[in-house]
Amino acid sequence: MMRIAAATACLLAVATAAPAAPVFKPLSVELPPDAAAFPDGPNVAVVNRNCLACHSADMVLDQPLLPRATWAAEVTKMRNVYKAPITDADAALIVEYLAATHAPS
Ligand code: HEC
Repeated sequence: MMRIAAATACLLAVATAAPAAPVFKPLSVELPPDAAAFPDGPNVAVVNRNCLACHSADMVLDQPLLPRATWAAEVTKMRNVYKAPITDADAALIVEYLAATHAPS
């Protein structure tokens, strides 16, 4: 019985205590620099038009240098898995760009 009385008193105290007002402080956050577009290269306009809707260029540029076949598979993945609306013609031009600018020599 004592326990129940004590628990009730506790609950009442919590229920009646005024909630502490939240205190908001201004914060300044410094984000890492992010490439806004792809560096120059063959068909760069096609790449900028098709590859920046969902993520930054850095998602691509931060990858290791990859062979053409891997880039082709990557572009196919963007189309099939993530439903990027890229035409066959544009996909071929994008693979050209990636193979020319971001592949092992
Ligand atoms: C419809 C949205 C969309 C478009 C357009 C898109 N991507 Fe992606 N991409 C994604 C998503 C979602 C991920 C996975 C993000 C994550 O894991 O955080 C991703 C990840 C990637 C990655 C990281 C490796 C991986 O497979 O997860 C690369 C490289 C990449 N995309 C390249 C491209 C290229 C090149 C293009 C242009 C041909 C492109 N993306 C266009 C949605 C898209």
